[in-house]
Amino acid sequence: MKIAILSRKASLHSTKRLVEAAKQRGHEVSVINHCKCYVVMERDNPSVFIGDHSLEGIDAIIPRIGASVTFYGSAIIRQFEMQKVFTPVSSLALIRSRDKLRSLQILSKAGVGIPKTAFANYPSDIDYLIKQVGGTPLIIKLLEGTQGLGVVLADNETAAKSVLEAFYNLNANILVQEFVKEANGSDIRAFVVGGKVVGAMKRQGKTGEFRSNLHRGGVGTAIELTPEEQEVAIQAAKSLGLGIAGVDMLPSTRGPLVIEVNSSPGLEGIEKATKQDIASIIIQYIEENINNTQEQKKDKVGA
Ligand SMILES: Nc1ncnc2c1ncn2[C@@H]1O[C@H](COP(=O)(O)OP(=O)(O)O)[C@@H](O)[C@H]1O
Ligand SMILES: [Mg+2]
Repeated sequence: MKIAILSRKASLHSTKRLVEAAKQRGHEVSVINHCKCYVVMERDNPSVFIGDHSLEGIDAIIPRIGASVTFYGSAIIRQFEMQKVFTPVSSLALIRSRDKLRSLQILSKAGVGIPKTAFANYPSDIDYLIKQVGGTPLIIKLLEGTQGLGVVLADNETAAKSVLEAFYNLNANILVQEFVKEANGSDIRAFVVGGKVVGAMKRQGKTGEFRSNLHRGGVGTAIELTPEEQEVAIQAAKSLGLGIAGVDMLPSTRGPLVIEVNSSPGLEGIEKATKQDIASIIIQYIEENINNTQEQKKDKVGA
């Protein structure tokens, strides 16, 4: 099979691991920098180019689109989708997952547990927002923050109000969220591939830190998920339409609460913690789906 990994750098750890696994399983694999691609649209012929070279004959893409280029990356994925190239992360699922508000709206509708969260247009609603999420301490989040940057813990009402006012003044889009204190600075990352949890770890933030992101110094250790946690992770990935997802959950007294679903989850931390070859599991999942697509195409010809 011909697999293309959409990634800005071949030297990134997750990209390298996917290339390695694809080669090991006998595939032809290339790393394509989606930022250097451009699309051409004309009647019945959606194509993707790099320079004067048209990208053709690709069976599957694996998008690894960074948060800063979501819009451009989604346009490239969409163009491949129109060529019926298989992608485990669709352009729609990518866009949904990158917007914390949109994700939470979808998750809540799908019956997935989430921390109570509010979003408003006017600073005059600040008092209501604070009340809705159960008062302080509370969490304030930028809609499109990543790696723990843009997540603030406000301990008391004075702090919460002044931070919220400052954000509103900057016209930043923010969520106000219930603080789940039972999490104790930790969260659970469940790695979902093709509707199955293929690895899970608990991430513990460093001392005095409420954010457990590995980028903020958090440490991951492998864990066995409870059946409820498994089900929630699978449901979360499914409701956003992601074939590959890193589902982040906070353990709470009322069950697991999903805070975020990542569409380009890193492989380094999870493979290290679980000692699982998750890159190969991803490639196997791609193989199964390419085969299905090809079977379907054959069926159509035969009918
Ligand atoms: N509502 C919350 N209650 C307690 N801790 C939280 C809450 N939301 C986020 N956190 C902590 O902050 C970290 C970063 O939040 P997250 O929403 O995942 O943003 P990012 O996209 O920046 O990773 C989480 O991994 C978790 O440890
Ligand atoms: Mg996160």
